[in-house]
Amino acid sequence: MSSPQRPQALGNADDTVVPAGARVPGAGNIDFGNGQPSLSLLPQSAMRTAAEHCLTRGDAALLQYGADQGDDGFRESLAQFLSRRYATPVDATHLMVSAGASQALDLVCARFTKPGDTIFVEEPTYFLALELFRDHGLQVVGIPLDADGMRMDALHDALAQHRPALVYTIPSFQNPTGTTMSAARREQLMEASRAHDLLIVADEVYQLLDFGAPPPPPLAVLATTHTHEARVLSLGSFSKICAPGLRLGWIHGAPALLDIVMRSGVVQSGGGMNPFVSGVMRSMIDLGLADEGLDALRRVYTERSATLCQALRDYVPDAAFIEPRGGYFVWLTLPDGMLASQLQPIAAAEGVTFHAGSRFISRLGFTQTVRLSFAHYAAAELVDGVQRLARAVDQCRADRAR
Ligand SMILES: Cc1ncc(COP(=O)(O)O)c(C=O)c1O
Repeated sequence: MSSPQRPQALGNADDTVVPAGARVPGAGNIDFGNGQPSLSLLPQSAMRTAAEHCLTRGDAALLQYGADQGDDGFRESLAQFLSRRYATPVDATHLMVSAGASQALDLVCARFTKPGDTIFVEEPTYFLALELFRDHGLQVVGIPLDADGMRMDALHDALAQHRPALVYTIPSFQNPTGTTMSAARREQLMEASRAHDLLIVADEVYQLLDFGAPPPPPLAVLATTHTHEARVLSLGSFSKICAPGLRLGWIHGAPALLDIVMRSGVVQSGGGMNPFVSGVMRSMIDLGLADEGLDALRRVYTERSATLCQALRDYVPDAAFIEPRGGYFVWLTLPDGMLASQLQPIAAAEGVTFHAGSRFISRLGFTQTVRLSFAHYAAAELVDGVQRLARAVDQCRADRAR
């Protein structure tokens, strides 16, 4: 796909768009829109150990077209890893290997929707998922969130008017709000899935990135442990818990649903996803390096989140946010009804960029909110970024008062 020299703003899973006309300071810019881990957090040395371990196994089949569902040995190790991390048994037959959550979502859309179909998403939601849904010609209907996740009253109102091909949710440490769907809400969503035969697609890339208190179990765990199975596919990924460059993830769901995904032309032609990288990741898991790395990341993000939140309280005290308990993001409501679009060029001139809230909705909305990621920067840079933001907020306030 891209060359390694490609400018950052084109190659990221989660880029910042600087408004036209804004001055972008060079190397010193703090980009709170960057939803990637810092390079220093990527597990180079563990990967070298795991790659050597994998290659020493001498399994030439890892260089062959892979099984449709993904490498068997990797799926077994992945099932053990997830059983440990979720503290509940996960069956390898309920896992299909993907090339990351984005690719999994693309496959699911290809197999379960057709152009013109309506789908439901949370409002706000991951903006690049909205782009992916546009690729598939889907009509997006937003379901508002509250502190407990997707609002069930709004879901039922929307169900009275539409028959969605799927419902897309990010239940844990949501992108962009950081919200986690409560256990009760998850049960209600399962119930709605059963009652209306809804396909629920749960994007759970932040599920394992809690700061000490794990969220309720993934939706696929709930669905597969109930007697009457709800139709749920949970999408997991090693991007946020190990390294995005692996392009490795999984789809978790009932075998009958996975069968439908596996019948995709891509899988039929190219085989299961990334057998070789799966082999290396299997070694990461079997050697205990995946658990070690994940726990180290959780410690780093816990500190970074606390640093960002404290800096916001110190320097932008009249902006509002709920402190996240996991994931990557703080969803910040600007003070005094300030518009993110007004603040953005002023902030860019101060050397700080971020995503405006309006990017996370398919219609007009969230004009007074911004999303800040704490994953990419160390503490001193996060504080520096917030100080720049505070100067921009003061400047914007002064401009508005004129
Ligand atoms: C909610 C959500 N889903 C998916 C992705 C991308 O995941 P992957 O790298 O596994 O494709 C991201 C990355 O920012 C994300 O925030």
